[in-house]
Amino acid sequence: MGKRVLVTGGAGFIGSALVRQLAAKQDVEVCNFDNLSYAGNLHNLASIANNSNYQFVRGDVRVLQDIQNVYESFKPDVVFHLAAESHVDRSLHTPISFVESNVLGTANMLEATRAFLDNHTATRDSFRFVHVSTDEVFGSIAGEAMFDEQTAYHPNSPYSASKAGADHLVRAWATSFGLPVLITNSSNNYGPCQFPEKLIPLMILNCLEEKQLPIYGNGENVRDWLYVDDNVAALQEIAAHGKLGESYLVGGDSPLKNLQVVEMICDLVSEISDTPNARSRITFVSDRPGHDYRNAINFEKLSTELGWKPSEDFASGLRKTVEWYLNNQAWVDAVRDGSYRDWLNLNYHQR
Ligand code: NAD
Ligand code: TYD
Repeated sequence: MGKRVLVTGGAGFIGSALVRQLAAKQDVEVCNFDNLSYAGNLHNLASIANNSNYQFVRGDVRVLQDIQNVYESFKPDVVFHLAAESHVDRSLHTPISFVESNVLGTANMLEATRAFLDNHTATRDSFRFVHVSTDEVFGSIAGEAMFDEQTAYHPNSPYSASKAGADHLVRAWATSFGLPVLITNSSNNYGPCQFPEKLIPLMILNCLEEKQLPIYGNGENVRDWLYVDDNVAALQEIAAHGKLGESYLVGGDSPLKNLQVVEMICDLVSEISDTPNARSRITFVSDRPGHDYRNAINFEKLSTELGWKPSEDFASGLRKTVEWYLNNQAWVDAVRDGSYRDWLNLNYHQR
């Protein structure tokens, strides 16, 4: 029998990329557990929805019983825990929902895992719980320095604090109860199917529609950009060969200032779609409170121990991403419902 892999948050951006790759493998059974929040979209799974090795279970990590039910019915060997509220700006408007899904949700996942392994002791040795987290738990880093696995946690937003809390819980359940866990902290992912609240898809769509391009502050903030399929490859490598109880940083080797990223998007959109003068719509708006200045990732541990490195460079990954949004208007129309317009009003109206 092949591996039985449970993915929480498998209808979201990164989760769906992971589920699509797993479901393409003959020897893997995949279960996608997701509550279909605004960011969860079953259209992301259309290409594998009818695969016999794929199933979807609607459930909520805030509800322990939902997780216990899926554990007992599916009996996973590997769990990738991605379900979370994921957007920093939203966490400034509704912080408690981040604590509920990200902190309580992760504690529930750990408790369900503990009970499951107690009931199925034979699977304990091969079982893996991979917790998917962010480099934002480290806050901001100055000069040329980079985050590595020894960097102290210093989260600055409700989002990153909730992810930091979750990471600590995962470590505590490993130490106190011997759960077989691994933690990944990656930089900013980009690619197809990302909900257009995050910088890159928001700017692509605004460019195509000849709208303003709102850059927070002066555009000097630096993020490292990781193509989503590279992250998905890293997650699988870490699940298969990572050292139990350890964390791995995952980066794209593409540190860029936000203004550079937006200018590259403008130039690509102008070139591919014949939308002229996109750069002229760049607008500097009031800064995000607590805005981390610079994130930078040293992923040497992952590359030396597990031989992983990113395969996509930013220019080619961004081109693929812009082309995907241009060619998937139905997806774009489907995600931009009334609640999306409400979000734009809430976040951008008074900047
Ligand atoms: P996303 O917002 O696109 O998707 C999150 C998914 O989780 C959605 O399908 C949503 O429906 C689901 N979900 C949310 N709350 C839930 C709940 N209470 N119960 C069940 N499902 C729930 O996020 P993403 O960008 O795909 O990120 C996935 C994970 O990776 C998150 O844990 C995030 O913190 C982490 N991460 C993301 C990035 C990034 O750049 N996007 C970088 C590092 C780490
Ligand atoms: P985002 O995609 O929200 O990811 P994160 O906050 O997790 O890094 O933002 C990436 C960077 O882009 C961040 O420095 C904030 C900035 N940004 C803007 O300048 N304008 C925007 O409209 C958004 C959404 C983000």
